[in-house]
Amino acid sequence: MKTLTLSQSGIALSALGYGCMNIGGAWNAATWTAADRAQAERAVQTALEHGITLFDHADIYGRGKSEAIFGQILKAQPHLRDQIVLQSKCGIRLADEPTPGMPPRYDFSYDHIVASVEASLDRLQTDRLDILLLHRPDPLMEPTEVARAFDHLHTHGKVRAFGVSNHTPGQIELLRRAVDQPLEINQIELSLLHVGALSAGVDANRRGLEYTAADGVLEYCRLNAILVQAWSPLAGGRLSAPAETASVVERATAGLISALASAKACSVEAVQLAWLMRYPGPVQPIIGTTNPQRIAACAEADQLTLTREEWYQLFNAARGVNIP
Ligand SMILES: NC(=O)c1ccc[n+]([C@@H]2O[C@H](COP(=O)([O-])OP(=O)(O)OC[C@H]3O[C@@H](n4cnc5c(N)ncnc54)[C@H](OP(=O)(O)O)[C@@H]3O)[C@@H](O)[C@H]2O)c1
Repeated sequence: MKTLTLSQSGIALSALGYGCMNIGGAWNAATWTAADRAQAERAVQTALEHGITLFDHADIYGRGKSEAIFGQILKAQPHLRDQIVLQSKCGIRLADEPTPGMPPRYDFSYDHIVASVEASLDRLQTDRLDILLLHRPDPLMEPTEVARAFDHLHTHGKVRAFGVSNHTPGQIELLRRAVDQPLEINQIELSLLHVGALSAGVDANRRGLEYTAADGVLEYCRLNAILVQAWSPLAGGRLSAPAETASVVERATAGLISALASAKACSVEAVQLAWLMRYPGPVQPIIGTTNPQRIAACAEADQLTLTREEWYQLFNAARGVNIP
């Protein structure tokens, strides 16, 4: 599989990343089942066999179980640790954490960032994260506190590189004023069912269209050599096998994807991911299926390059209206 290289740290990443949100069983305090463990092992093994080396986590996934089950896999196969790039996120605190009655909230305080990473390292059974992302922007953040946390984690060898997720250009700029380490990734939702960040650009200066927070985020990342990672790149499979209840636009887009896949003798997943990867930013899709056949179908995207005309055909279909 092709690789991408982070601009400052030089860390090499596979063109597709594997998102671990769906491994480890249900998001509750119960321990995982043997079936959950087998599913996680199969998914990770299949991703590795197809050349995927970036594994994306978050402290909250499965309420810690996604990292913990991955830690079991690393414990059983310690040689894997040096062959993969381990990424996790922090900054979201779920309701009732750590005590009942606490509201869901974001927390970019020094104490929470450092404690969260320590807990992730324990669960993952490793001494370092290759990449740490701030999960969702915290309006109460103090950039100097984030900077102190990043310094501590970097100096102690606990995190090699840093980034953010779901952040606007303004929020990244605010952090960059205080944080010494380069912010090298912004992970945002992007798929053929979530094209706002791309549409904002082509809709600029059109009367009646409102500007959104997504405006300029892709260009900002490109200007600052920040890699864009696309979460939910397949929109949960809604365009691969559209439901009866799917909208007219969804069904038309799914039909086009299917026709392109037939013409190119590739999977429908590959067409959708290749559409994201055609953006010259570049974009690294973070896939989340636990199904080995689907992981293999996703990996076909590495060999597929869409033409400008195919890209715009899909873009127009997804927008439900042709570009101006
Ligand atoms: N930064 C953030 O705020 C954020 C938010 C959400 C997710 N993420 C990251 O992004 C990763 C991917 O997210 P995602 O799981 O929503 O992405 P996705 O790849 O768009 O969707 C995968 C999910 O859709 C299901 N699915 C059903 N039919 C499918 C089909 N035909 N093809 C593919 N999937 C199908 C999968 O179930 P099966 O397992 O049964 O195939 C799985 O639950 C996560 O693991 C996580 O690492 C980040």
